[in-house]
Amino acid sequence: MQFSTASQDLTDVRTGAHQQWDLELFSPAKINLFLRIMGKRPDNYHELASLFQTVGFGDNLYFAKLPEDARADAFTCTAPNVPSDKSNLVMKALDLFRAKTGTHQFFRVHLDKLIPAQAGMGGGSGDAATTLFAANELTGCPATPEQLVAWSGDLGSDITFFLSSGTCYCTGRGEVLHPQPNIQAYKKVWLIKPEEGLSTPMVFKHLDYNELSSEDPLELLKSFQDKGIEGATYLNDLEPPAFKALPMLKQMKQDMQAAGFKVVLMSGSGTTLFALGDPADRDWPIVFTRKWGCNIWRTEFINRPEGEHLWYRQERPYGAEHK
Ligand code: C5P
Repeated sequence: MQFSTASQDLTDVRTGAHQQWDLELFSPAKINLFLRIMGKRPDNYHELASLFQTVGFGDNLYFAKLPEDARADAFTCTAPNVPSDKSNLVMKALDLFRAKTGTHQFFRVHLDKLIPAQAGMGGGSGDAATTLFAANELTGCPATPEQLVAWSGDLGSDITFFLSSGTCYCTGRGEVLHPQPNIQAYKKVWLIKPEEGLSTPMVFKHLDYNELSSEDPLELLKSFQDKGIEGATYLNDLEPPAFKALPMLKQMKQDMQAAGFKVVLMSGSGTTLFALGDPADRDWPIVFTRKWGCNIWRTEFINRPEGEHLWYRQERPYGAEHK
């Protein structure tokens, strides 16, 4: 296994006390290399066709099994705005895991939160998928990987993707997986996130069906297979509604293009923009943060190693590079 099941030490960020953990896992963020909205469904969700990719920027999760007589999970998080009650997707994932497997194991979980909320990077969804995986590993794998995939769709639309190998064409609400060969480990990936966030329902509310693109998503997928990362076609049908809800995002995108980036796209429902490559002007992050007050991270594409007991690994930790 790539992770250690030996106890890990971590100083509790709030109490300063030393904690022992059974399992420590990286929980990556995702970006959408393209995202087509194919229409509205009878259940009020939207039919998606999107190429998802995991990146080396993300959260860290720490898990410990509680004694047999424990009757509740204990959850802490470094981010004060993340709820620690049953509305948190980590807690929901643990409840779902117990309900489906019949196990009575409860856990202590600590979330070191780096992925911002309302960013379109699947932060909460990735944490939920990582939690399902961890709970299964720590209880002797009562569920198969296929069962975890099937159950995860009940928690939210993006969670299932994180149980793939990290490069996946997703349809349905986003929970139907069509695994793709891993994309080259592209290393020049920039994530640009303004302070302002947008909720997914809010972006869908601004969606004008007349503004949807008409590209065949399978052709978009083919452009990645045939032309590679730097020659592929990038588009996101949620950009127009997000730009309507938050006009500064459109200006930020234009600034990124003016700085020399050939690929700039909003991820998911925003408000993160991602850019690929390195423009000639190396000072752009300084200029950009001064003008827009955004966070900028430089990262890379990563994939989950092969093997059902292996999880994503961060090659090196990324902090905010500019702020
Ligand atoms: O499934 P999840 O909880 O992530 O979705 C959050 C919201 O985003 C939904 O309530 C819905 O408004 C919107 N959504 C959608 N179509 C999707 C995924 C999400 O309309 N495929």
